[in-house]
Amino acid sequence: MANNEAQLHAVPSEEEAAGQQRFDKIIQEDSRIEPRDWMPEGYRKTLTRQVSQHAHSEIIGMQPEANWITRAPSLKRKSILIAKVQDEAGHGLYLYSAAETLGTPRDTLNDQLLEGKAKYSSIFNYPARTWADMGAIGWLVDGAAICNQVPLCRTSYGPYGRAMVRICKEESFHQRQGWEILYELSHGTEEQKQMAQDAVNRFYGPALQMFGPPDADSPNSKQSMAWNIKRFSNDELRQRFVDMIVPQVEALGLTLPDPDLKWNEERGHYDFGELDWDEFKSVIRGNGPCNAQRMERRIEAHEEGAWVREAAAVYAAKQAQKKAEVA
Ligand SMILES: [Fe+2]
Ligand SMILES: [Fe+2]
Repeated sequence: MANNEAQLHAVPSEEEAAGQQRFDKIIQEDSRIEPRDWMPEGYRKTLTRQVSQHAHSEIIGMQPEANWITRAPSLKRKSILIAKVQDEAGHGLYLYSAAETLGTPRDTLNDQLLEGKAKYSSIFNYPARTWADMGAIGWLVDGAAICNQVPLCRTSYGPYGRAMVRICKEESFHQRQGWEILYELSHGTEEQKQMAQDAVNRFYGPALQMFGPPDADSPNSKQSMAWNIKRFSNDELRQRFVDMIVPQVEALGLTLPDPDLKWNEERGHYDFGELDWDEFKSVIRGNGPCNAQRMERRIEAHEEGAWVREAAAVYAAKQAQKKAEVA
C-alpha cells in the first residue's frame, strides 16, 4: 500500500500533467492563475508564505504608528494618522483573504504568527521614538513598500495582484503624508529640522533592507521570478528606491546618512554604501529593539479580541440556521 502510494506521487497522474501544462502556458503567456486552477505545490507554498507574511507585516506595522495617535501634535494630524493605521488593518485583511484562497485557513495563518513561526517585515521591530518618525515611516517605509508592491499588481496569482492594486493606491497617500510631515518639520525651527534629520538617519538603512538580502544571498528569488510572482530582483528594486528618494530628500532640505551615496554617470543610477546585513540578520532572528514587544502586544490584542470572534461566530451560526429554516 505504502509503496503504491509513493509510486502514485512519483508519477504525475494524467490530470496533474495536464494541470502542469496548463499552468506553464498561463505563466508563459504572462496571464493569471486563479484559486481553482491547478498549481504546483511549490507555487502554492511560496505564495501562501509570501502573502501571509505580507499580511502579518501590515498588522504588526500598525503598532509603531498607533503608538503616536494619542500624541499627534494636532487634531488634523491625529485624524490622518488614525486613517492611515486603519488602512494598514484593511491591507492585512485583504491579504489574509487572498492568502486563504490558496487553501490555508486564516486561523492557521494567524497561529503561525502568534507562535513565532511566521515572519513579518523586520522594519517594524524598530521603535518610533519621536513625532518625526511618523514622517520617516510614511516617507521611507511606505515608500519602500510602494516600490516593492507596484510590480506585485502584475503578479501571476490573481487574488494577490488584485489586492495589491488598492493597497498601492492607499500606500501612495501614506508616503505623501509622511513626506509632508517631514517637509513641515524640516522647514520649521532648527530643533524640528534636527528631529526630522534624526528620524531619516535611523530609518534609512532599515528601509533599504526592506527589499530583502542582496540578490546573491536570495536563493528563492529566481524561482519566484520564473513563476512571475516577483517581477524584479531585490537589488533592482532597492536601486529604484534609492534613485527615487535622492531628489526627494533634496526637496526636503535633508540628507541621507550615507557618505558613499553619489550619482554614477556611467550606470545612470546612484551608487550607495553597503548596508549592515549582520544587523538585518540579527533583527530577523528576533534580536531587534522591539521584536518581543511587538509580539507581546499582538498576542494581547488577539486575546482581548476573543469575545468579538466568538460573537461573530455565534451570529454567523444563527444566520445560517435561520436561512436553513426558511429553505
Ligand atoms: Fe500597508
Ligand atoms: Fe502604508
